Amino acid sequence: MDELARFAMRTNTCGTVTKNNLGDEVILTGWVHTRRDHGGLVFLDLRDRSGIVQVVVDPTQHAAFETAHTIRSEYVLYITGRVKERPAGTINPNLPTGEVEVEAYNIKILNKSKTPPFEIDGTSVDEVLRLKYRYLDLRRADMQHNLMTRHKVVTRVRDYLNNNGFIEIETPMLTKSTPEGARDFLVPSRLQPHHFYALPQSPQLFKQVLMVAGFERYYQLARAFRDEDLRADRQLEHTQIDMEMSFMTEEGILELVEGMVRDVFEIADVKIPTPIQRMTYDEAIHRYGCDKPDLRYGMEIEDISDIVEKADFKVFANTVKNGGAVRGIAAPGCGTFSRSRIDELTEFAASNGAKGLAWIALEPEGNVRSPIAKFFREDQIEAIIKRLKANPGDLLLFVADKPVKASSILGSLRIKLADQIGLIQPDVFNFLWLVDFPLFGWDEDENRLDPNHHPFTMPRVEDIPLLDTEPLKVRSYAYDLIINGTEVGGGSLRIYDQGLQEKIFELIGLNVEEAREKFGFLLEAFEYGAPPHGGLAFGLDRLVAILLQKKTIREVIAFPKTQTGSCLMSGAPDTVTEQQLRELHIKLS
Ligand code: AMO
Ligand code: AMP
Repeated sequence: MDELARFAMRTNTCGTVTKNNLGDEVILTGWVHTRRDHGGLVFLDLRDRSGIVQVVVDPTQHAAFETAHTIRSEYVLYITGRVKERPAGTINPNLPTGEVEVEAYNIKILNKSKTPPFEIDGTSVDEVLRLKYRYLDLRRADMQHNLMTRHKVVTRVRDYLNNNGFIEIETPMLTKSTPEGARDFLVPSRLQPHHFYALPQSPQLFKQVLMVAGFERYYQLARAFRDEDLRADRQLEHTQIDMEMSFMTEEGILELVEGMVRDVFEIADVKIPTPIQRMTYDEAIHRYGCDKPDLRYGMEIEDISDIVEKADFKVFANTVKNGGAVRGIAAPGCGTFSRSRIDELTEFAASNGAKGLAWIALEPEGNVRSPIAKFFREDQIEAIIKRLKANPGDLLLFVADKPVKASSILGSLRIKLADQIGLIQPDVFNFLWLVDFPLFGWDEDENRLDPNHHPFTMPRVEDIPLLDTEPLKVRSYAYDLIINGTEVGGGSLRIYDQGLQEKIFELIGLNVEEAREKFGFLLEAFEYGAPPHGGLAFGLDRLVAILLQKKTIREVIAFPKTQTGSCLMSGAPDTVTEQQLRELHIKLS
């Protein structure tokens, strides 16, 4: 007897009835997946969480047979019957229960169902319909599998962290603004008119306080709220596997977390190579044009500035002369692209800020087709081909611009092309730690340094002298875990030295008053003996979606929101009554 039958009104679950049960009298409960009338016999596929079993009703069982005729899809039944072998030729090898059927002699309808707006095992059902009737959508085997896998991931994570000395602690949902940089969701306070709570964008400040409080290793499956535009891998609320650790080096943290990732991917029988490959931010930007490169395919960006700086092609030569760079990628097998297909790529590059896109097509027979080839000597073309490790049949694409911009435009092209020409093998997983993120970025609007993540990120010790001279060159102990080109997790070591913290605030133009206003309680806590600490957070939704190879995190969230932030099932967000607004001292404009 399996665990779903224990304490329950049934003796067995549908999906687990096998030849071992031959001759047993069983009580089954569940939903009618399908009903078929076959020359006097009625067949019901009965479904519960464990799977499906075939129930057969024959006319000699008068009452059951009569009831069977009134049954429709998704009715809820209570069936008593006996397990028997299926007749030869009717065995279904695709079903774990496919060798047996249950001969019903008593059928009780526990509940009826309206005709569902879509077939439960139908494919390509419109997502709007799926989200509106999510309870029906969630009955589908695919969604059941997704949410069960999510549960397995959470269980593995908890087991791993519990075994490594972590304590699960909850932090508040009604709190103050947290420093993750997105827009806050605000909740008006009734007891303190004109005051607002913010829903946490992460437990960041509280988990650092927990380190000061001496818990040493904390985790939480925490809901985080960010009022940002929704995308395939972004929701207004997401779940983080949030961790913080004291007395650990960056190395120790990465190693510890790798063990957790290894355990999680075992669920899908994916063995991850440990230690997980590492790449510095600078290298990723240069070679892949982004800070979350997908390494399942090549098309690396190469710099050809030194080859073209003396060539007759002014666009390239002048760019290099003015401190820019000329970089390129070789798109495998695209040498036969028509002019209009290349024009599409040019438009795409332009939409990403490119001033132009130069190209050389290497046709499979060895001819070179290109509007710019005439400006280069043969040996220069040869050198370019060699630098890009290009083969006959490839399309070489070049952008001349400021170095980082050239890489970033090519990086976008690389991603688009890989998708377009099917370079990505679906069953391959690539894991990468991206490390040494710059501590600051430059805020163009406000003309000042901006912390790349939050102002508590620790600068790399060897770069601290650069804080005064070249702060944009300062690297930090910040790391992201990238899987297949998606940022799945990220974190950092934190500053625990007050002098250094004040210096960082000063550099980002935050005076003591402002810092106290924003992060006061954390800074105060730090005055009472903060241990060296660091941590990170995984996006659970993203982690599970990647594990299951789903295109959007909506597939692994029970009740997600649409692109416009609506829950189609519940109708949120919604208007509220005058009375509610009055109590909250809110006037609508
Ligand atoms: P960060 O902002 O990188 O770090 O968030 C951690 C991880 O959460 C996931 N994530 C999201 N998933 C779905 N929808 C969203 N809108 C969304 N936003 C983020 C990503 C991301 O990697 N406090 C820090 C962590 C730390 O430093 O310890 C933090 O929140 O997978
Ligand atoms: P032009 O000399 O502007 O007619 O450009 C000649 C070719 O160089 C065209 O194919 C342009 O798309 C390309 N081109 C122009 N500017 C750039 C640039 N910054 N980077 C790469 N290619 C460029």
